[in-house]
Amino acid sequence: MNIIVSEAAFAAANAYETLHVPALFQQWAPRVLDAAELHQGQRVLDVACGTGVLAREAFSRIGTKGYVAGLDATRGMLAMAQHLSNSIDWQEGMAEKLPFDDNSFDVVVSQFGLMFFQNRLAAIQEMLRVLTPQGHLAVAVWDALDHSEAYPIEVDLLQQLAGQAAAEALKAPFVLGDKTALKTLFETAGVSNVKIATYHGTAHFPSIRAMVEADLRAWLPVMGVMLSDEMIEDILAQAEYVLQQYVQANGMVEFDAPAHIVTGTKQPH
Ligand SMILES: C[S@@+](CC[C@H](N)C(=O)[O-])C[C@H]1O[C@@H](n2cnc3c(N)ncnc32)[C@H](O)[C@@H]1O
Repeated sequence: MNIIVSEAAFAAANAYETLHVPALFQQWAPRVLDAAELHQGQRVLDVACGTGVLAREAFSRIGTKGYVAGLDATRGMLAMAQHLSNSIDWQEGMAEKLPFDDNSFDVVVSQFGLMFFQNRLAAIQEMLRVLTPQGHLAVAVWDALDHSEAYPIEVDLLQQLAGQAAAEALKAPFVLGDKTALKTLFETAGVSNVKIATYHGTAHFPSIRAMVEADLRAWLPVMGVMLSDEMIEDILAQAEYVLQQYVQANGMVEFDAPAHIVTGTKQPH
C-alpha cells in the first residue's frame, strides 16, 4: 500500500513515534506477543497498529515464513509505519469492520486501541472472526486511572484550570481499567478461555513539559478539546510544581503506568 498524507499528518505521527512510543508503548510489545504465544511461521494481525511498534516486534519473531498485517484508522500513523518498515502489510480500516477473510490469522493482537473504538464489542467479534479456530488473541489496555501515577494529578490540574471536558479527555485512555467489566466484554463477544493479567509498567518522558504539552496540544484536540496558548502556558507552569515528585536525578520523568493484557482463544464450532 502506498500511503500519501499531508505534512501535518506525518508530523503528528512522527511526534507520537518519537515521544509516546518510547515513553509508554514500546515496553508492552514483547509482553503482548508473549501473552499471545506467538511463534515462528505464524500469520499475525495488529489491530489499531498506530506507527507499528507491536507489528514490527511481531515481524522480528515470525521468521521468513510468517506474515504480519497492521491495521489502523489513521492514515498519518500508517504513513509513519510504512516509513519505518515495508515488510509489513499496512492496511487502512476500522477495527469494527476488518478488511480480512474469516479464519485468516493464527494470532490477533492489539495494544492501547480498544478504549477508543466506537463499538468495542463489534471490534472484538471481528478479531475473533478473522482468527483461525484455536487461534490466540491478546489485547492490552491501561489499568484504571487511580492505579496509575502522575495522570490522576494531571487530570485534577486540568479540571481546576481548564474544566470538565479537558479532564475527561485525559481520562479516556483509562476507561477499561475495571477487570470484571473487561472480562465480561470479551466473553460476551464470544472469546473462550478469557484471562486478564495486570503488569507493572513505567512511563519515561524526557521532561514534564514534553509530557504535558503533548497531552494539551496533540491529545486533547483529538478528543475535541482545544485550549488557548495562554491556558496551555498556565497549565504547563503549574504542572512543573505538581508533577515535580516524578522527576528523577537524571532529569527524566518516570512513574508507574500499569496495564492489563487480556488473552483468549477462538473455539472451533
Ligand atoms: C494510543 S494509539 C496505540 C497505537 C499502537 N497500538 C501503539 O502501541 O503505539 C491508538 C490507535 O488506535 C487507532 N484507532 C482508534 N480507533 C480506531 C478504530 N476504530 N479502528 C482502527 N484503529 C483505531 C488510532 O488511530 C491510534 O493509532
